[in-house]
Amino acid sequence: MALRAPEGTRDLLPDEQRFWTHFKQTAADIFGRYGYQPIETPLFEQTDLFVRGIGEATDVVSKEMFSAISGENLKRLLAGESIKAKSRLSLRPEGTAGVVRAVVQNDLVPQGAAPAKLMYAGPMFRAERPQKGRQRQFNQVGIECLGADEPTVDAEGIIMLMRFYEAIGIPVDRTRLLVNSMGCEKCRPAYRDAVKAYMDEHADELCEDCLRRSEINPLRAFDCKKEGCAAVMEGAPKISDYLCDDCRAHYDAVKRLLDLAGISYIEDSRLVRGLDYYTRTVFEVQVVEGMGSQNAIGGGGRYDKLTEEVGGRPTPGFGFALGYERCLLALQAAGMELPGRPPCDIFVASVDDSVREVSFRIVQAARDVGLTAELDHQHRSLKSQFKLADKLNAVLVMVLGPDELASGVVKVRNMQTHHERTVELKALRSLMERFLGARCDAAATGQLFDQK
Ligand code: HAM
Repeated sequence: MALRAPEGTRDLLPDEQRFWTHFKQTAADIFGRYGYQPIETPLFEQTDLFVRGIGEATDVVSKEMFSAISGENLKRLLAGESIKAKSRLSLRPEGTAGVVRAVVQNDLVPQGAAPAKLMYAGPMFRAERPQKGRQRQFNQVGIECLGADEPTVDAEGIIMLMRFYEAIGIPVDRTRLLVNSMGCEKCRPAYRDAVKAYMDEHADELCEDCLRRSEINPLRAFDCKKEGCAAVMEGAPKISDYLCDDCRAHYDAVKRLLDLAGISYIEDSRLVRGLDYYTRTVFEVQVVEGMGSQNAIGGGGRYDKLTEEVGGRPTPGFGFALGYERCLLALQAAGMELPGRPPCDIFVASVDDSVREVSFRIVQAARDVGLTAELDHQHRSLKSQFKLADKLNAVLVMVLGPDELASGVVKVRNMQTHHERTVELKALRSLMERFLGARCDAAATGQLFDQK
């Protein structure tokens, strides 16, 4: 049986790959206007980074990490030997921890410096049960801003994300933005204690996982998908009743800036997000219908303590990530089709084998000038070369036969207007250069080649 891609992964075939490139470019254009610069971090990191950064009580760390291990270390483990902590590696389940590690390691935010604004795009890995909109390898585009704790950072980040959805074509009226504040190390402990006490009272109604969570981080019980637990957690204390004055002022300022920008949002005091590093602002963008349960197309928040967790000096942070595949599902639900292959500028058809070498050189010259050019590689008849040119959506077809070659010319047919003219071989290069200049303007391209 032919092998298939692993469960929960998918191939990005050329049409989709083109869209993914456009998606990343649109993000880079928009986020670039807000000062975000590209960064790329490794696809795997020391497991400890994720345990310390994301939190061991999270599903992401406790259940969903893929470990990456070298053959040598695997042999050692199988032989019952231990391996060094730094050799325990995991595929990144998200991008924030790696970016924060890179910021600390490369000292990107020296004391007193302006914040580091970074953006990334690429695959993340989570061993979740695959379903529509939930994969084991998926792509995220994300941003992280390190070094500033002002609410303006949070607000401009959220505004920028909503601008991105608009630009990529996700109708804003099909989305909802949920916001909350998770408090800080001053006010959260009292809230955690209150949730823990509430969970203890309802211990007999909670699942094993939630009982374990109540010991490590009770707030994680808000993520539990089991109906019984969800019903219990509905009645749990709300963080909004526990925020300290500073956290409340920060939250109010973020909301005020969103109001001023005309961004609508829903306050959801049970939004805790699935990662432990958040402090203060958290938010999530969901698609209102047509996406089933996997309807979150992006989310993020502030993480003012994460840098210290991974061994850096205190550096406040804010960021978000959006899921490419889920955005694509939302776009397709709204009727978008993937863009097709762009037209081939020039197809060179050979009447017989005697001219193939010259055809090959013409095609090469066109590519060197900067045009897309193709020729037949399978000894097809002239008729099927024209069919291939049609399939490639060729703008011009050049036909070269022994007679043309003997006269030092080639026939050039404009496939849109079907006009044909004879061009001297020695004039081809300048023709190609003029084509390149006029390519952006299809009408001008047509005229150029139809001129006598
Ligand atoms: P997250 O909410 O875990 O946040 O993931 C962000 C987005 O990635 C989700 O909203 C969703 O669109 C997509 N996503 C997550 N898991 C899957 C999956 N299994 N299959 C398909 N798409 C998925 C983070 O990852 C944080 N690092 C965001 C952040 C950045 N917070 C601060 N800075």
